[in-house]
Amino acid sequence: MEENHLKLTDIRTENESDKRLVEKVFSYKQEHVFRWWNDLSANDQKNLLNHLRTLDFELLQDLIEKHIEGSTLTNPKTTILEPPIIIPIPDSDSQKAHAAEAKEIGEKALRAGKVAVVTVAGGLGTRLGADRPKGTLPISPIKGKSIFQLHAEKIQAVMKKYDTVTPWYIMTSKNNEEMTHDFFEENRYFGLNSDNVSLFTQGELPVIDLQGRLLMDSKSSIVTSPNGHGGTLLALKERGVLSSMNSRGIKHIFYHQVDNILIKIADPVYLGYHISAGAKMSPKVVRKTDPDEKVGIVGIRDGHLDTIEYSELSDEEKHALNPDGTLKFGMGNPAIYLLDVDFVEKINESHFALPYHKAVKKVPCIDGDGCEMKPAENNATKFEMFIFDALKHADKSIIMEVVRENEFSPVKNATGKDSPDSAKQSMINMFGRWLAEAGIEVPTDRTGNVAGAIEVNPLYALDSEELKGKIDPKVVFNGELNLQ
Ligand code: UD1
Repeated sequence: MEENHLKLTDIRTENESDKRLVEKVFSYKQEHVFRWWNDLSANDQKNLLNHLRTLDFELLQDLIEKHIEGSTLTNPKTTILEPPIIIPIPDSDSQKAHAAEAKEIGEKALRAGKVAVVTVAGGLGTRLGADRPKGTLPISPIKGKSIFQLHAEKIQAVMKKYDTVTPWYIMTSKNNEEMTHDFFEENRYFGLNSDNVSLFTQGELPVIDLQGRLLMDSKSSIVTSPNGHGGTLLALKERGVLSSMNSRGIKHIFYHQVDNILIKIADPVYLGYHISAGAKMSPKVVRKTDPDEKVGIVGIRDGHLDTIEYSELSDEEKHALNPDGTLKFGMGNPAIYLLDVDFVEKINESHFALPYHKAVKKVPCIDGDGCEMKPAENNATKFEMFIFDALKHADKSIIMEVVRENEFSPVKNATGKDSPDSAKQSMINMFGRWLAEAGIEVPTDRTGNVAGAIEVNPLYALDSEELKGKIDPKVVFNGELNLQ
């Protein structure tokens, strides 16, 4: 059928509800999706209608008007950017005493079972080029344990240490939910009780072409894409996770990205500062490695705490220095947050508070002849929500700086910086520092990397202090050490 000549009467349907749906699609000027209607089997016609039924056409229209037809900027323009006030890495005795007090408060909350972990793992891992969920990647330096297993062992170690239950909620997306679920089943939840591990799926949004028309990936299906990590806050409500947390007495959510293999899960010091300040959403920050590093920074934008993507900073802002020579806007965003459950409820009240950002990308689809195509040029618009847009809705936040080498090493690319290899090396180097602090000599090469491989099971030691208390200082490192 020529799409220009498609008429409502061409689309014969079986019942009133289907008819109304088709009318709706026409009213939103998306009737091209019925172009192949008469070629489809009854089953495929049904699939197409079922797919269309899941789409929120009002929201889509709103996004098209704002981002495609209108002139709205994707991101708000910054007028004034200031560095945030941070809790520094403890150095002086008083800072150390404050951190020790905070730790006690955090430990109390953990013992009382008030903390849950949310891991976001719904991304498509496009840059990594792996056709499996990132969390399933083998990553530990000697045993090749998966990222998910490392997170699971850390949670188990926290539960053991504080004699508590710390439920784990993992957000997946439509494209990886089944694989992720199967991976946990096959690995028997890595020794965790499956009652305390829940997978929930984030929402999807249709992908449109540059003119605002729905893209199709077959004659009977629409291209959709996950709605961004900001979608976590919506999914927590819609998938019943907040109710589950409330019934378990959870007050605080420790949020992190699946790809950060050095994540210090449920850090009690961070929890303690957050709780004692009465904060509602609190980010951790790490110092940027160089002015041009591609991480977002945490700053005060027009009076509100916010994360500013590297692409939004001017060269002048990227290179601005403090009197002591450090970067003025150098507090990088490792995407680690504490959020209170009642704050997430508030974000979901009446109108969901987070905005959508637009990204123009190359997205495979079918062309006007129904043939599959992999575009060489950008052909599509995706919409995503970002978790950090919730920061400005928090009445109170604390911002805590942490040692980057101990807490942030993401797996983003297949090779080079932020790759599986660099992540392994950062684990080995951190374990090397722990051993050195316990009095064991660990040789390094010319680049400062540990010469050899070390692996420490989180159940053996969660940090340097625990390792020191356990390991025999007479141990000799002969190039490989595996502490399980
Ligand atoms: C993100 C941050 C950046 C930060 C960096 C730290 C944005 C826009 N930028 O960048 O400020 O410095 O992380 O690593 O977020 N995810 C979902 N569902 C989605 C999209 C993503 O669960 O719909 C998850 C991914 O699985 C991943 C995480 O969110 O765990 C980050 O996504 P990614 O696209 O890799 O963010 P970056 O661009 O690296």
